[in-house]
Amino acid sequence: MIYPILTPEEAAEFVQHGMNVGVSGFTAPGCPKVVPPAIAAKARREHEAGREFKINLFTGASTNDYTDGELSRANALNFRTPYQSLGELRKHINAGEVHYNDRHLSELSQEFRYGYYGKMDIAIVEVQSITDDGDMVLGTSVGNTPTWLQCAEKVIIEINDMLPESIHGMHDIYVPLDPPLRREIPIYKPSDRAGKPVAHVDPKKVLGVVKTSMPLGVTTPFTPVDEVTAKIGEYVCEFLVSEMKHGRMPKSFLPIQSGVGNIANAVLNSLEASTEIPAFEMYTEVVQDSVLKLLESGRCKFASTCSMTFSRDAMTEFFQKPELHDKLLMRPSEISNNPEVIRRIGVVSMNTAIECDLYGHVNSSHVSGSRLMNGIGGSGDFTRNAYTSIFLCPSIKKDDCISTIVPMVTHCDHTDHSVDIIITDQGIADLRFKDPVQQAEEIIEHAAHPVYRPLLREYLAHAGNGHIHLNPDMALAFHSALAHEGDMRKADFSKWL
Ligand code: COA
Repeated sequence: MIYPILTPEEAAEFVQHGMNVGVSGFTAPGCPKVVPPAIAAKARREHEAGREFKINLFTGASTNDYTDGELSRANALNFRTPYQSLGELRKHINAGEVHYNDRHLSELSQEFRYGYYGKMDIAIVEVQSITDDGDMVLGTSVGNTPTWLQCAEKVIIEINDMLPESIHGMHDIYVPLDPPLRREIPIYKPSDRAGKPVAHVDPKKVLGVVKTSMPLGVTTPFTPVDEVTAKIGEYVCEFLVSEMKHGRMPKSFLPIQSGVGNIANAVLNSLEASTEIPAFEMYTEVVQDSVLKLLESGRCKFASTCSMTFSRDAMTEFFQKPELHDKLLMRPSEISNNPEVIRRIGVVSMNTAIECDLYGHVNSSHVSGSRLMNGIGGSGDFTRNAYTSIFLCPSIKKDDCISTIVPMVTHCDHTDHSVDIIITDQGIADLRFKDPVQQAEEIIEHAAHPVYRPLLREYLAHAGNGHIHLNPDMALAFHSALAHEGDMRKADFSKWL
């Protein structure tokens, strides 16, 4: 190998205060694991010596504790984009200590190439292998890595020997040309390959290689399916079957996108058990353990993803089963979440909402409008371009104190124009072919929890007239009651009536 071998500490010495740093990965899989902690240690040393040390960090999506965790604990982050999901970093962002820009995941690569963020100083990339010519087999996700390799002035490579050779061939690396030269992305079904199995870097950019032996897979425990999430899963199946029966969806079915977490898990379990939904394909950004089960059973015929967000056990199991390897393809987030492809192949999107309002606006990212939870992630990429867009959430939270159906969302990530269906444990609200007031009635009767229906009806009846009934004083009464009395049921409209 022509590249110098570095220790993590030697690699971290190349990173200076104020630099734009890009990392590989998308969710925890595929992120670097030993160089970021060494950068955090360097930041601590610099701070102790009275010197400033903060970097601007560009990722694929959320990362791992080695990256976001270590760097935020060391106060080493100035700017962070496009998505995060780690409690420690969230705390710093909500305290105004880290400048966070929430971006659509499909867009960051092109925005970087367009020059919105200046130059990328260093990219740190986990790989399975790299040749002397600069061809590399990536790890268990792709994220924005191909663009970072293109844009970065220098690159540090982590070769993780826990990544098996069999991962070679499971990536499809395609970077579109930028306007005015861009052409169509040649993907017409989830299993189509548009690019190459390897990513490429100019070998002259490589500062060196750090050898690692770090376990693969995520350690975050998934909450098991419960009565509420199981009900949501059942309603999703009921809805999809009805769409096929009414001829609104082809009988051969369409590719689905589904997120991670317990609701997504419950939905995938229901799809697995359904006898009426045919075996299907996925065009999605993450696959979790339940997708492994679907691939094994044949219920899922093929999964196009950006990341293998499997647990450690599921990751081991997947690599021990070569018969599954050609059923899964990892792509850059620019492609896994690409609006053009999503719309062309007719993806049915399913994402989780923090809250939805009576007119179908959805808040995915900010609790009570101000506290960032995670970010918009890929939900906007898929929702806006889906064949049918579905939002899922439990109808109530924190016992009965929070209604996820509110008169007006406190932050809007997805507008009414993009949201077709809202499903809660109470049922299916179909917003299509309805005006805003009809949509509000549909949402109250089919998605809201019965405890909140009278209050929501009262709001709708007294919120005024117009195409949308909106009373600016009453619209946030649910949130005001939650903020002051810890319970949305205490919303009191009487003073405005
Ligand atoms: N009002 C007030 N607080 C709320 C709330 C609401 N309507 N909804 C959620 N919360 C609080 C919860 O109480 C919880 O607080 P806690 O941590 O103090 O207990 C927290 O917000 C998270 O809620 P939870 O129900 O655990 O969230 P989740 O794990 O089901 O995730 C999202 C829901 C929306 C946060 C998550 O799906 C997400 O980040 N989505 C955006 C990204 C995305 O859609 N990506 C595309 C697919 S991968």
